[in-house]
Amino acid sequence: MARLGILCIQEESAGMNWQKKNFTISSEHERVDIDALYDMLRRSHWAKDRTREEVEQTVANSICFSLFDGEEQIGFARVLTDRVAYAVILDMIIRDDFRGQGLGKWLMRCIFEHPEISALRQVLWTTDADNFYKKLGFQEMSKIKFMARSWKISA
Ligand SMILES: CC(C)(COP(=O)(O)OP(=O)(O)OC[C@H]1O[C@@H](n2cnc3c(N)ncnc32)[C@H](O)[C@@H]1OP(=O)(O)O)[C@@H](O)C(=O)NCCC(=O)NCCS
Repeated sequence: MARLGILCIQEESAGMNWQKKNFTISSEHERVDIDALYDMLRRSHWAKDRTREEVEQTVANSICFSLFDGEEQIGFARVLTDRVAYAVILDMIIRDDFRGQGLGKWLMRCIFEHPEISALRQVLWTTDADNFYKKLGFQEMSKIKFMARSWKISA
């Protein structure tokens, strides 16, 4: 914790690691395989236009959760947070050949356990994975309207 006047800036805690059989989840920045992540996001509907440099910047500015099969990165999610009130979960993706075996659920549960995230309001938006998130306790907020400015709508 660094003191800056009356502000306390929480520095990111040391990376955490979780292990299940041959799979590992790590929140260590250095472990993110930018090429593998760029390749996964290039196939997504929301980040297909993001450049490799932009992917690298988003990683540098987020708490990242990388999923590995052995040494190979096969999943990812990142969190933007003020570390006090809100944690926004973004870019959640499991490589298509590893979907449907509980890895996405496990990755989300590791995010929930992270000490800088667990006590915060966790929010996200999705076009079609709402039932995946509902199984993890997320609810649609009927009284809250999601609003965006300068948001490129892609089909
Ligand atoms: C959505 C995604 C992350 C789920 O990961 P996954 O590893 O395949 O999911 P899991 O195997 O852990 O599934 C957990 C549960 O959610 C369900 N589920 C998985 N993907 C789902 C989806 N797209 N929509 C609805 N339910 C889904 C599963 O059937 C499973 O249900 P069960 O617990 O009753 O058996 C993955 O399919 C993916 O990367 N999709 C493409 C990218 C994407 O849409 N990301 C979300 C952006 S907001």
